[in-house]
Parts: sequence; C-alpha cells; structure tokens
Amino acid sequence: MKVAAVFGAGGGIGHAVVGRLAQSGYYARIHAGSRRPCAGFGSTVTPFTVDLTDEDSIADAATAIDAPPELVLVTTGMLHDAARNISPEKTMRGLNAASMARAFAINATGPALIAKHMLPSLPRDRRAVFAVLSARVGSIGDNRLGGWHAYRASKAALDMLVVNFAIEMRRTHPEAIVVALHPGTVGTALSAPFQGGVPAGKLFSPTTAADHLLRVIETLTPANSGTLIAWNGERLPW
Ligand SMILES: NC(=O)c1ccc[n+]([C@@H]2O[C@H](COP(=O)([O-])OP(=O)(O)OC[C@H]3O[C@@H](n4cnc5c(N)ncnc54)[C@H](OP(=O)(O)O)[C@@H]3O)[C@@H](O)[C@H]2O)c1
Repeated sequence: MKVAAVFGAGGGIGHAVVGRLAQSGYYARIHAGSRRPCAGFGSTVTPFTVDLTDEDSIADAATAIDAPPELVLVTTGMLHDAARNISPEKTMRGLNAASMARAFAINATGPALIAKHMLPSLPRDRRAVFAVLSARVGSIGDNRLGGWHAYRASKAALDMLVVNFAIEMRRTHPEAIVVALHPGTVGTALSAPFQGGVPAGKLFSPTTAADHLLRVIETLTPANSGTLIAWNGERLPW
C-alpha cells in the first residue's frame, strides 16, 4: 500500500508526474494537490486543493493524507506571472519588492511549509523521498550569466532549506531522502516565453521530464539527501 503525494499537480510537470505515477501501478494512493482540483486521473488519484500562500490549506492537506507517504514531490514554482506583472529581471534595475516577495513566497516559503507539515509524517522504518523541483539557475556555484534575480535567489533559498531539512531529518528518519531536483528545460507554461534559444533535443516534453525525474528518484539513497540532482542523475553544485 504505497502512498505518494504531489503538490503542484495542475502544473505542466506536476500533471505529467501524477499521470506517470498513476500508470505505474506502484502506488495504491496518489494524492494530487493544486489550487483547482484536477480530475481525470483515475481511481487511485485523490485530488486536493492547496495554495502555497495559505499555510492552513497545506496543514489541511497534510492531515488528509492519512498514511505515511513513500514519496512527496513538490512541483510548484513561479518564474513569471502576467496577472501580477512579474517577469524575470534582466538587470538590477528591474528589481521590485512585491515581485521578489512573491517569488520567495512561491519558490521557497511555500515548499518549506509543505516540508514542515509533510516531513514528520514520512515513514521512519523504511525509505521515503521528499523531492522539490528547484532549478539549475538557482545554483550559486554554477551562475555565469546573472539576471533572473528573484527566481535565482528564491531557488537558492529553497536549496538551502533542502540542506537544512536533510540534516534535521537524518536524526529522526535516517532512511529519508530530502533532495532538490532540476528537471532540465521542459515545455510548460513556465518556460514558454524562454524556449526560443533552447537547442533542439534539449526541450523535454512534460511526460519525458516526469520519466526522467521518477527514474532519478528511484535511484536515490539516503547518501543523496541534501543534494541538488539534475534530470540525468548528475549531481549539481549548490
Ligand atoms: N519548465 C522548466 O523548463 C523548468 C526548468 C527548471 C526548473 N523548473 C521548475 O519545475 C517546477 C515546475 O515547473 P513547470 O514547468 O511545471 O511550471 P508550471 O507549468 O507553470 O507549473 C507551476 C505549478 O506551480 C503551481 N503554483 C504556482 N503558484 C502556486 C500557489 N500559490 N499555490 C499552489 N500552487 C502554485 C501551479 O499551480 P496551478 O496549477 O494552480 O497554477 C502549477 O502547478 C517549478 O518549480 C520550476 O521552477 C522548471
């Protein structure tokens, strides 16, 4: 009776991940969270609603997931938001406090609150994975181009939280794995305005990205906890 939970099931990658998990037949129950309930996955998928900016909705979701999950995958994230006039800054002149606060709320604080409410419920006696989608551009060591200040900084903050949570979990849940994953460049709404320069063969479909991510997740061991890993299994610098 394995249980999985995906936060961000309405997004491009999250939706594909839930589809793949349901097809795999490996999980008896898959909890699929999004701001609007998503339907059509079949009887093993239980949709729930969650908003990362509303901690009560995260706490309620965690309470409703009534069996210890072997997999929690956070596929939420924000790079641009036309409704809020947010787009990634090219230079420091583009910085705006409200846009930055929103990027941190969605990309760092929200996943941290999911961790707060979900990590304690991971099984203690067996392997379990808590994975969040970060981004290679959040790597401080790998930053050669600059720009995209709020997105990069909020993903770097997320990465730091992943390291912290991995350390904390090691004490109580030695078989748990807490990781950040980079999915590659994926053809979703998030990357849509920026796909022009992506070389042929480097823009993955959401389904291909889901397959990559689930393959990497399968191979993880507790030794990988507190790291950033790319879609192809490569360990990336923080
Ligand atoms: N696509 C890429 O090329 C790429 C590259 C590197 C990293 N990533 C990372 O991969 C993750 C998934 O990206 P994607 O490409 O699948 O993007 P996407 O299609 O835009 O999906 C983003 C998801 O975030 C959710 N979300 C945003 N604000 C939320 C909030 N306040 N409360 C709850 N959910 C919220 C959206 O929920 P709704 O469905 O309710 O809108 C959606 O499920 C992100 O963390 C992104 O940074 C993507």
